[in-house]
Amino acid sequence: MTTLAAADPDKEPPVDFVIEPFRIKMVEPIRLTTREERARLLVEAGLNVFLVRAEDCLIDLLTDSGTSAMSQDQWAAMMCGDESYAGARSFYRFEAAVKGIFGFAHVIPTHQGRAAERILFSTLCRPGHRVPSNTHFDTTRANIEAAGAEAVDLVIPEGRQPRTAHPFKGNMDLGALERFLAANGRERVPLVMLTVTNNSGGGQPVSMANIREVSRLARKHGVPFYLDACRFAENAWFIREREAGFAGRPVKEIAREMFSFADGCTMSAKKDAFANIGGFLCTNDADLARREKDLLILTEGYPTYGGLAGRDLDAIAVGLEEVVQEQYLHYRIESTKRLGDRLTEAGIPIVLPPGGHAVYIDAREFLPHIPPSRFPAQALTCALYLEGGVRGVEIGSVMFGKKDPATGAEIPSAMELVRLALPRRVYTMSHLEYVVEVAKAVWRRRESVRGLRITYEAPMLRHFTARFEEV
Ligand SMILES: Cc1ncc(COP(=O)(O)O)c(C=O)c1O
Repeated sequence: MTTLAAADPDKEPPVDFVIEPFRIKMVEPIRLTTREERARLLVEAGLNVFLVRAEDCLIDLLTDSGTSAMSQDQWAAMMCGDESYAGARSFYRFEAAVKGIFGFAHVIPTHQGRAAERILFSTLCRPGHRVPSNTHFDTTRANIEAAGAEAVDLVIPEGRQPRTAHPFKGNMDLGALERFLAANGRERVPLVMLTVTNNSGGGQPVSMANIREVSRLARKHGVPFYLDACRFAENAWFIREREAGFAGRPVKEIAREMFSFADGCTMSAKKDAFANIGGFLCTNDADLARREKDLLILTEGYPTYGGLAGRDLDAIAVGLEEVVQEQYLHYRIESTKRLGDRLTEAGIPIVLPPGGHAVYIDAREFLPHIPPSRFPAQALTCALYLEGGVRGVEIGSVMFGKKDPATGAEIPSAMELVRLALPRRVYTMSHLEYVVEVAKAVWRRRESVRGLRITYEAPMLRHFTARFEEV
């Protein structure tokens, strides 16, 4: 008997261990720093890791946006970029790649996601309008508000509870949406949105059944339905893994089905297109597309480049084909899950289940001795940096807290989270194990972590530039 014949899959099941599905052929060194150095850098940065230089971070989990490693095929395509002002080959390659997955009739390139949002909302929204979503991302909300309209979050109740397990915590509350549409009508609701995956709600997915129902309700009321599609491939993977009837189906097919229920989408290619810059806006409405292109020319550029270089359009075209590959998505979601599982095993409280692009540590539970008015998530973010040079981001009362207009007292945000966002194809599982070790070290000495007070803050978006001191 040959050794080949001996490989009986019933007796010898295949190795079940997920690895990075790529080899590394170019490396970027990371600078090791000492604890003393990091303590000094933190103080210089006013205890705000946004103000720390990237090269002083050992593992930078600030964001998954624009931080992907590009593939050899993306770099090769970039060398073939056509930089013509109008009608460049790069645009047609980009347009074909977008249409092949998203299926919309009109594709408008933009320099990033928020530019697509600005064009969409300034075309559709007016003062008095209200736009529902599961949870609006902060730039989405800001662009809706800049157009004078109101952004309303209608995620299911489980989506607001960090410790409650649910396979699709990003789902829209359908009863709430139905009541909202009945109360406001198409006169006040210019569009309904769904963010896939739900970034501000912990990177949690939305089920196909929910997308279908949201679409049905929107259509019943004559309102267009849009997807904020930044992490569409991760969302499609979760549908394949968790929703009945989708097991084993090609991810591209699942994504196409998701988009078939929508009238258009906004997209940041800095996420699920592996590009370092770029985005686009899609619609099936020819008249709307014409008006959007008029605005595009005003601020972004001609409709066949939209503020991007031809080579960027080529990088996006190739990235979109790569991001729907099953091997990649399996590794991607598994590595996020592995990070979440290791933290959970160590007793560290995180938002459950782990999302697609990030793990969120629950700082209220991690540091129960620090009240929300003393910014526990900011304190934990600093502690992770100090301990091992790991940079996460505070998503709590610094980012979302408000001030009582009468007393000036802090009104804390509902959750105090530290987000560890994973850049795509950048860090290995060994890097993530290091992150776990750093978190465990902070967990062991958690009682020594102190709360913070603000010493400087800007009137808007204070989290980027605020400075703090220990209390
Ligand atoms: C869900 C979501 N929508 C929109 C955006 C905005 O995209 P961009 O950063 O490309 O402007 C982001 C960026 O993080 C996002 O996560």
